[in-house]
Amino acid sequence: MDKSKHDRRRFDCGVPALNSYLRVMASQQAVKDNSRTFVIEDPQREEWIIGYYSLTMIPVDLGVLPEKLQKKHQSARSGGLIARLAVDRRYTGNGYGEWLLIDSLHKLLQASESVGFPVVVVDAKEGAADFYRKFGFQSFADTPNKLFMTIADIRASLG
Ligand SMILES: CC(C)(COP(=O)(O)OP(=O)(O)OC[C@H]1O[C@@H](n2cnc3c(N)ncnc32)[C@H](O)[C@@H]1OP(=O)(O)O)[C@@H](O)C(=O)NCCC(=O)NCCS
Repeated sequence: MDKSKHDRRRFDCGVPALNSYLRVMASQQAVKDNSRTFVIEDPQREEWIIGYYSLTMIPVDLGVLPEKLQKKHQSARSGGLIARLAVDRRYTGNGYGEWLLIDSLHKLLQASESVGFPVVVVDAKEGAADFYRKFGFQSFADTPNKLFMTIADIRASLG
């Protein structure tokens, strides 16, 4: 995301918190190295943002993973986090959400080759958990809107 190029005020995904994160926080958080935000531009007008996602890391409570995974990853403490992912309402239903999700998983898989973490986590907004389930994410036992996918499964599905 490029603050000087992109019209962040125009972006409207219908969720105020996700709109204001892009407008106010995304660029500041990147300058501070707290998270990274990536956008898809409208090819007709490159300053218009079709959709975005933000990535960072999160502590992972292994206790809420399935038992088999708890044993396998007992020394791990962190996961990659898709902190936010949204598509502007004017562009939904055209595969951009899927493109953003797959692109974010490619980036996290690549990061995991260097720093090593076993899962990717996402906090789905109301109504969006099924979007992530479609692509292989499963809910944590205690929080249906918080989902994870293992790096092993991401590697297998992205090839
Ligand atoms: C959820 C969101 C990212 C989907 O974006 P999109 O560009 O419309 O998604 P796509 O067109 O790539 O859809 C890919 C598939 O997911 C499905 N899908 C889209 N939104 C869905 C939802 N909320 N629940 C379940 N499935 C969904 C589509 O039907 C499509 O399925 P198909 O391939 O079988 O046709 C977008 O609607 C959005 O930004 N919503 C508001 C913010 C939000 O809830 N973000 C999510 C996480 S915090």
